[in-house]
This record gives sequence, C-alpha cells and structure tokens, in this order.
Amino acid sequence: MHNNVDQLFDKLWSNYLSVTPSAVKVHELLGSTQKDDVINDHIALRTFNHEKVGLEKLASHFIAVGYKECGEYHFEAKKLYAKHYEHSDPTKPKVFISELLVEQCSPELQAIVNDMVEQIDESAVTAEDFLYSGTHWQVSHETYQQLLQESEYAAWMSAWGYRANHFTVSINYLSGFNTIEAVNQALKDAGFTLNTSGGEIKGSAEVLLEQSSTLADHHSVIFSDGEFKIPSCFYEFALRYEQANGEIYTGFVAASADKIFESTNAR
Ligand code: NI
Repeated sequence: MHNNVDQLFDKLWSNYLSVTPSAVKVHELLGSTQKDDVINDHIALRTFNHEKVGLEKLASHFIAVGYKECGEYHFEAKKLYAKHYEHSDPTKPKVFISELLVEQCSPELQAIVNDMVEQIDESAVTAEDFLYSGTHWQVSHETYQQLLQESEYAAWMSAWGYRANHFTVSINYLSGFNTIEAVNQALKDAGFTLNTSGGEIKGSAEVLLEQSSTLADHHSVIFSDGEFKIPSCFYEFALRYEQANGEIYTGFVAASADKIFESTNAR
C-alpha cells in the first residue's frame, strides 16, 4: 500500500486520465491546465461485496494514508452499499466506495462475478497499485452485454475493474465559478453532454449539496472476443453548503448519488 496520500492520488489520476481524456479539457475549461490548481471534492471507486475484495479492502488503502470512515449509504434498487471516507486535510479528496451486493443478484450474474473475483491474486489486493490495477480477468463482450441487462454497475466493473470511476471538481474552490449552473453552462458551451438523470443538478442548497456530472467518455476495451468502445469514466462537479453550525457539509446525498451512478450508462 502507499504511505503517501498525494502519490496515491497522482497514480489514481493518471490511470483515470488514460481512459478519460476529456478530463484534461474539463480542467482547462474551469480555469487551469494544472491538476494541482483544481481541488477535487471526492473520487469514487466500485467493487463487489465479495470477502476478498469488499469495500473494506479498498478502504484499507485509504486508511493507510490517513483517511477515516464517515458515512454509509444504501441504494436498494441498484443493490449497492457504500461508505465515504475523509482525510484530516479538507483539501484532500473525500473517498466514496461502493460495492455490489452480489447475493441479491441472479445466479447467472453471481457465477460471472465469482469467476472474475477468483482470478484476482490474493496478494494483489494489498499491493501498492491495487486501486488502479484495472481488471484481473478478461470477459467477452457478450458477457459484458449480458451483465448490462441486469446491472450496469457489474458490467462496468467487468470491463474496467479497479480504478477511479470518477473525480469530482470542488466548485467551492474554483475562483471563476460560484454556482453549479455556471459550471454546467460552461461545460455545455464547450460541447460536453451532462448526465440528465434526475435533472442536470442533483440535490439542492436545502440538502447542502448540489452535484452534476458529464456522461462518461467512450474508450476501447479489449474483450476476449474483440475490441469494443464502451463508456469508461466521467467527471463530476460538487458545490457544498454550510450547515447550521457554520461548517461545510461533508457527507453525501444518497438520492443524488443514485443518479450519478447512471453517468456510465450505455448510450
Ligand atoms: Ni461522486
């Protein structure tokens, strides 16, 4: 595992950029070509609730660099469970880790997922690069499409594996933008397509968090039966509000996160 938080995020970032080239354009648009000038609100990772690779296994890599567990979230329709983690330095991204509750899925999906997880070397899970190690298996495009019928989340994992699913620009730290509406408009003017599931803006000042996101880039994946372009990763934008005690809200809103998951939907 890494012992330096910045090194871990640098690796996650470059791995994310390799399949999400539009992220560079997002940074240029929001006032910087330097990654260090954009503060990320959070990143998100996905996994399966298999004992070998459950969310706690992913979380241990962040706990090793100073993160603490904060909130938990349930997504019943998508059969997901999630937790978020925070660092004592508020400029370090929060971390949102979700896991698919595999036992609630069909026997067919369970068999495919178990087969994928079995191919992960036990030692790989604690290796320094695990959080950006991608897939440890190779599925066919046919299997990918089969998973897609039941769970977009499982299909995405089968193709992309372990990596940051998205980074999230903190609008609070942007100098050129004060509202999420202005950020969204700048993105649309530059030709980006936003995720409109649940509306362009998820959440509100009342729930202390507003979020929006681009739709995922399309990137090639080499499946066992050929190469196909499919949705990879996306960029999210978050604006946080002060709570009654004057402190900025640092949690997540499950109803909004539920819609953000759909940013990787096939289109
Ligand atoms: Ni997010």
